[in-house]
Amino acid sequence: MNIFITYDTEKTKPAALEFSKRYQYPCINISDANTSDFTTSLSLNFKNEVVELRDNEKDISIHIDFLSGNLAHRQKYGGGRGQSIAKAIGLKQGTPPPSVLDATAGLAKDAYVLACLGCSMTLVERSPVIVELIKDAIHHAEEDEYFQTILKKGFEVINQSSIDYLTELKNQDVISPDVIYLDPMYPDKKKSASVKKNMQILQKLLGKDEDTQELLNTALKIAKKRVVVKRPKGAGNLSEVKPTYTVESKKTRYDVYIIPKE
Ligand SMILES: C[S@@+](CC[C@H](N)C(=O)[O-])C[C@H]1O[C@@H](n2cnc3c(N)ncnc32)[C@H](O)[C@@H]1O
Repeated sequence: MNIFITYDTEKTKPAALEFSKRYQYPCINISDANTSDFTTSLSLNFKNEVVELRDNEKDISIHIDFLSGNLAHRQKYGGGRGQSIAKAIGLKQGTPPPSVLDATAGLAKDAYVLACLGCSMTLVERSPVIVELIKDAIHHAEEDEYFQTILKKGFEVINQSSIDYLTELKNQDVISPDVIYLDPMYPDKKKSASVKKNMQILQKLLGKDEDTQELLNTALKIAKKRVVVKRPKGAGNLSEVKPTYTVESKKTRYDVYIIPKE
């Protein structure tokens, strides 16, 4: 996907230029952003207040905020260990929360929910644009007292293909994560107007994830205790390997693959 990098002040210019150089995207001052190429494309905007991803054609934008809006609400009132996602990753009273590797970090919503449940998190995301949004959100939250407890437990972000990352973990004989969590992009059958803003922009930027079966197979070889795959209710399994069991919520199904003990 064609993407522009923009900045709005001298303060945000260096970060925008550095990103554009590293990933070879054109970089412009936002006030010069009016060519037809620009108005039909996505842009990653380094603004004074926030880094946002904007669909200039549809005039919608997204950024990540761990401290207000949906994520903060879910942290305060989300139902704790009773949530389906908590059951799916195997959170139990009296046992320490597992270490989780989120191999499809995306906008880090699920990763943040899991971190709020006490899990130490490693987030792996292959899109550098998305990683920039996550890093900006961490930067904005790091002075917050509650968020500092999350950083202390572990909330590391890695910009790499998860298949490569997991393969390196295995080759280096590093301790495996207890749980590997997958939430790949799936083709949405609904008309695009009804698809949420976040998903519309992600779909435009990233398309469909084509390597999900390989990712699941790799994860199954590396996770210590389980692999959890988030699917829309009614969608097929990710591969021919059948899950051990499923946990269902209103719109979502979690396929849980328990790793047999050696
Ligand atoms: C549907 S989004 C995940 C949303 C996320 N669970 C959340 O709560 O915001 C899927 C993300 O996984 C990333 N992804 C898919 N396959 C990947 C892979 N093999 N390695 C790294 N990232 C991957 C995509 O780039 C995309 O950003």
